[in-house]
Amino acid sequence: MKFPVLIVNLKNYRESSGSNADRFFEYARSLSSINNVMVAPPILDTLRYVGEYSDILIAQSVDVPGYGSYTGHVPLVRLVDEGLRYSLINHSEYKLPHETIKKILDEASQYDFEFVVCVDSIDEMKRLLEMDVYPAAYAIEPPELIGSGRSVSKYKPQVVSDAVDLGKEYGVPVLCGAGVSTGEDVTAASKLGAVGVLVASAIAKSPEPLKVMEDMARNL
Ligand code: G3P
Repeated sequence: MKFPVLIVNLKNYRESSGSNADRFFEYARSLSSINNVMVAPPILDTLRYVGEYSDILIAQSVDVPGYGSYTGHVPLVRLVDEGLRYSLINHSEYKLPHETIKKILDEASQYDFEFVVCVDSIDEMKRLLEMDVYPAAYAIEPPELIGSGRSVSKYKPQVVSDAVDLGKEYGVPVLCGAGVSTGEDVTAASKLGAVGVLVASAIAKSPEPLKVMEDMARNL
């Protein structure tokens, strides 16, 4: 994964679901000369972007390692076989047991596939690191700031810098997210040592998403 990175999580907002997701990939591509911008579309739309956008496509979640009797799940190996290379996992809106995360990341180590593991606290990050979970990056997102419009980089800077310090101890880069709304919020995150940000509502729900994405990409 290339850092710094701006990850646009489209969640399952109507404004960014189905064909409404297309423009975010086009915008991300158009900003590639400025910075690495990746897009996490709704899981039901993911496979439509493999191929043309594989380099900037990141799945929202994976919840089992391989194929099998897993009704309703998203298997890692299926994504690998389809040509995906990146996924988020353990987002606050879809937490997984830590043993499951460990199993999935262990499985991924034999493929060209990388994870951003989301954590809601330093404590959670510590517990995962102690289980030898070493992803491409951790993303720290205090749940109470998600969707709030109040950026973690301004309202909880200590959480970000503590996560960055902990990541350094283990050689794992750290992103941050929750409430990030402007280029200024992104600059604040970079100053705290984060190698990128995760953003959802400020982009997915904006009447002018390209403007917001460009401002953020320029401030990474
Ligand atoms: O994955 C990013 C997300 O949880 C942050 O959401 O709307 O606060 O940018 P938002």
